[in-house]
Amino acid sequence: MGVYEVKSLEQYFKVYKRSVREPRKFWSKIAEDFVWYKKWDQILEYRLEEAEVKWFVNAKLNITKNCIDRHLAKRGDKTAIIFEPNNPEEPAQHITYNDLYERVCKMANVLREQGIEKGDRVCIYLPMIPELAVAVLACARIGAIHSVVFAGFSSKALSTRIQDSECKMVITSDGGYRGNKTIDLKGIVDEALEDCPSIQSVLVAKRTNTEISMKEGRDQWLQPLLDNVSNVSVAEVMDAEDPLFILYTSGSTGRPKGMLHTTGGYMVYTAYTFKNVFQYEEKDVYWCTADIGWITGHSYILYGPLANGATTVMFEGVPSYPDYGRFWEVVDKHKVTQFYTAPTAIRALAKQSTDWVTKYDLSSLKVLGSVGEPINEEAWHWYNDHVGNKKCPIVDTWWQTETGGIMLSPIAFSTPTKPTYATLPLPGVQPVLMDDKRNEIEGNQVVGSLCIKFPWPAMARTIWGDHRRYKETYFSAFPGKYFTGDGALRDEVGYYRITGRVDDVVIVSGHNLGTAPIEDAINEHPAVAESAIVGFPHEIKGNALYGFIILKETGEARNRENLTREINQYISEHIGPIAKLEKLQFVSGLPKTRSGKIMRRILRKIASKDTSNLGDTSTLLNPEVVSEIIENAV
Ligand code: WT7
Repeated sequence: MGVYEVKSLEQYFKVYKRSVREPRKFWSKIAEDFVWYKKWDQILEYRLEEAEVKWFVNAKLNITKNCIDRHLAKRGDKTAIIFEPNNPEEPAQHITYNDLYERVCKMANVLREQGIEKGDRVCIYLPMIPELAVAVLACARIGAIHSVVFAGFSSKALSTRIQDSECKMVITSDGGYRGNKTIDLKGIVDEALEDCPSIQSVLVAKRTNTEISMKEGRDQWLQPLLDNVSNVSVAEVMDAEDPLFILYTSGSTGRPKGMLHTTGGYMVYTAYTFKNVFQYEEKDVYWCTADIGWITGHSYILYGPLANGATTVMFEGVPSYPDYGRFWEVVDKHKVTQFYTAPTAIRALAKQSTDWVTKYDLSSLKVLGSVGEPINEEAWHWYNDHVGNKKCPIVDTWWQTETGGIMLSPIAFSTPTKPTYATLPLPGVQPVLMDDKRNEIEGNQVVGSLCIKFPWPAMARTIWGDHRRYKETYFSAFPGKYFTGDGALRDEVGYYRITGRVDDVVIVSGHNLGTAPIEDAINEHPAVAESAIVGFPHEIKGNALYGFIILKETGEARNRENLTREINQYISEHIGPIAKLEKLQFVSGLPKTRSGKIMRRILRKIASKDTSNLGDTSTLLNPEVVSEIIENAV
């Protein structure tokens, strides 16, 4: 990887040009630095019109050999993972590469003993405890496809995901800690499994010592199984294009999409981007505050850092517990050098007194990162002034579950940063802006739909079980190009700024929420006839959800407060509390086109209190409803 490390802006431009001129040579040089059982016959084969891409064709490897085994000789006693518990009184754990090797091998042996084979899907529903990292890597070691479901998702959301990929096993825990709450994870799993015939076994890690029920013949405690297996395990030989994991992301319509990532390209890309964007050095301590239930945790808590032999912090808690100084206390305690978090967390902390920050010694910090949503100017400056003390570059990293790794971002110490700008494409990434007529927009100071016109190694290969949907969602709007769903502007020097989603996905507190599944949940309420959800700007969450709801005649007589509570309850049960509505308005109708399509553009404007220019409403089927909605807007 060393060959294309970027250490200056000048070098960035040189490396970038090279990566575009000769992408195959470029990625093969980087890939040389990994451990392969067999190298590739070809670097890349693709047909973007068909959404077909293969990287490192016929190469054989195991990603855990690269993330663990190969470090043992030089870094066996180096800390791989620092586990920082929810409760600051509980001691942190330093898991060395030797420890990690042993724990992953044991877990791999347990999985094999339980009948899990290469290609089987294993659902992991765990809090941010070491077993989560170990379970993920153990799946990778034996070639099982992990499907991590964020432990904040409801039982219905969990069962939909288990059913969709027909998982054979669930790995969970008795419970989980988050701030001052204890979450009954096993109870949620039990509920979810009422409806999941593919599940043969459930392994339960102990975390909270909560009393739980164990189903005979299905459920087993994990620890006794681990105690009884060998601590070495042969890594499965995987093809570069064998699936590594499925991770669900919400779509603008219908069911969640199981994004499928494969092995070789994903490994090379996450490792290369981690090293460059964060400029990780051997003695550094890197901390990404995301949950491993999201892609950020997959790529930049586990795979990317571990492939580099890094020390990566895994934090079980939340930024506000036991107080608003927690992040900074942890940075001070572990002498964190790179800190990577989400704008929503920064905004919440910026609302508190700066005493929480100044109380701790943050002088170890070298690089700050931001991910998940656009970072507004105010939050950027607060982060820069108070956390980075104006001496740490902020890498505003734009990417997606689908892209597998960071796509647009400054490279720390090389790319001059600019507030709210993700700046430049990383080497190997070829972004373009497209207009509504599907033409590429040339030049600078322009806006358009953000697409990527050439494959990159970490891109998702398909949607599990539905390649047609993959092709339609990402490769049809602009044939031959990957469409991101985001709008962007390119400034006078070619820097990119993400302006937000151009589809029906809303990013709430950095969580990607499709409005359609929320509407589906609401519409199941017996009093509801129809609903439309849109996003509107929110001070801390970035965006929040506004629901416009038409009641059935029978629902009209009901108490509105009770209804509001019940509707949010439905959402919590179907999706999770993160999808609850910030505002809810009962309406007599929704603005519709003559073909019956809801005009969300109008609803978005009303929700954002920006009704001065609603555009042409005369083509609506029911223009009169618009003034009613505006009048009663909340
Ligand atoms: C969407 C993808 C990438 C991991 C976490 C989210 C938005 C992400 C940025 C950023 C502006 C951003 C986009 C994107 N987004 N990072 N730095 N600036 N917007 O992954 O859940 O797949 O969401 O998050 O809208 O499309 P995800």
